[in-house]
Amino acid sequence: MPKKRLAVLASGSGTNLQAIIDAVGDGAINAATCLVLTDRGEIKALERAEANGIPQAILPFADFSDRRAFTSAVVDVLREHGADFVALAGFMRILTAEAPNAYPNAIINTHPALLPAFPGAHAVEQALAHGAKMTGCTVHFVDEEVDHGPIIAQEGVAIMPGDTGESLHDRIKAVEHRIFPEALGAYADGRIEVDGRVVTVRP
Ligand code: GRF
Repeated sequence: MPKKRLAVLASGSGTNLQAIIDAVGDGAINAATCLVLTDRGEIKALERAEANGIPQAILPFADFSDRRAFTSAVVDVLREHGADFVALAGFMRILTAEAPNAYPNAIINTHPALLPAFPGAHAVEQALAHGAKMTGCTVHFVDEEVDHGPIIAQEGVAIMPGDTGESLHDRIKAVEHRIFPEALGAYADGRIEVDGRVVTVRP
């Protein structure tokens, strides 16, 4: 059977992209990385794609009239590259429902908090400011609401006295780098079942 084709969307440093590239390289994710798509140029994620010979697409958000037009273009590029499933690896743009409609339960996001706590773009800082003692990360399918779809994997990270946003985010990312590729590997193997909101990952 041909390998499933994985597209990765990123907006920044791409450490999660790197974890995915490494996991594809060592066979932990049995898929072919067909595309790295970003919403801006000159970011580290593109350098990582280039260094690994992965096709790249840059869709600057400002080139589009609105989120709907942007999402349509993203879906078109995913289809052009034959993507079967998609990883949102620190992709900081909100996509409209067209994306999960085109790829139902096939777009997987990592979020740096224990959803449904602290959705949105400032999850790490909000957990700190809230005085939470525990936060973590969530890997989930993307649906039409932000940071909301069925949860595939979660792991807690304790908040320590003296933590800054940066120190806490570093520890969360270390967990993301493990559980996000694991989830993508399970998807590639066909080991994930979804029943409403409840996801089962077979060993
Ligand atoms: C990750 O913590 C992700 O959960 C969040 O943004 C961060 C991206 O980091 N949405 P990187 O670009 O993968 O290093």
